[in-house]
Amino acid sequence: MRNALITGAAARLGRAIARDLHRDHRIVVHYRHSGQAARELVDELNAIRPDSAAALQSDLGAVADCERLAREATGLWGGIQVLVNNASAFYPTPIGEADEKAWDELLGSNLKTPFFLSQALAPSLAEGGGCIVNMADIHAERPMPGHTLYCAAKAGLVMLTKSLALELAPTVRVNAVAPGAILWPEQEEVDPDTQRDILARIPLARTGTEADIARTVRFLAADPSYINGQVIAVDGGRNLNI
Ligand SMILES: NC(=O)c1ccc[n+]([C@@H]2O[C@H](COP(=O)([O-])OP(=O)(O)OC[C@H]3O[C@@H](n4cnc5c(N)ncnc54)[C@H](OP(=O)(O)O)[C@@H]3O)[C@@H](O)[C@H]2O)c1
Repeated sequence: MRNALITGAAARLGRAIARDLHRDHRIVVHYRHSGQAARELVDELNAIRPDSAAALQSDLGAVADCERLAREATGLWGGIQVLVNNASAFYPTPIGEADEKAWDELLGSNLKTPFFLSQALAPSLAEGGGCIVNMADIHAERPMPGHTLYCAAKAGLVMLTKSLALELAPTVRVNAVAPGAILWPEQEEVDPDTQRDILARIPLARTGTEADIARTVRFLAADPSYINGQVIAVDGGRNLNI
């Protein structure tokens, strides 16, 4: 059975991905602050199959944090074959208000951490014929007003996906999922008018579900596969109409 590390997996999309991949993977649930939720998820998964899930805490701010998480994760069951870079900070940074802390947090969680975790896990992933799935965003291609740092970080993550797909081949595949509107952000209130406006631009006329994302990650992680260096938008067609 393959082992998967999912960052930011205690809640929301990360938890849905963890539950879905758990059907045929052991799961490392990475969390930063959500310790209680991470433990509940691990208990739930271990009740389904003993010794099939574990939680690891890391702030993931520094390269050393990424390397420690990679070491601890590979140490659990002797290797990691699937890495899902899901953890992400998201909030607006209108020009004139952005500071260095926001730069470090948004670029750090969405770009720096995925790179250094991928680098630290590359030997283990290569050994197991593994893969990386990065959680990007449709706004990596089309900017979202007032969110320059987040969009720039996700654009960087898309290039990271393509560049690592080339560099880690032929032993490791690297792909990305670009969600559209799936779950409204928790940190940033989205007012009803904005929600209506976003919904009006989605050809499929609804937000996506956690299951829509989880099954796409599962599809990209499944072996054997000839898909490498691709970004799959899961957005109901919204990128056609932003
Ligand atoms: N939700 C959507 O509709 C949507 C749309 C487009 C793209 N996405 C992408 O899909 C992924 C999952 O989305 P989501 O809405 O489920 O994510 P989320 O709830 O906003 O964040 C997931 C987890 O990331 C961790 N995290 C946040 N900032 C961090 C930091 N600075 N360092 C380390 N960990 C950090 C948090 O873990 P703790 O709680 O343990 O602190 C959080 O629970 C993200 O990459 C997001 O950008 C989502």
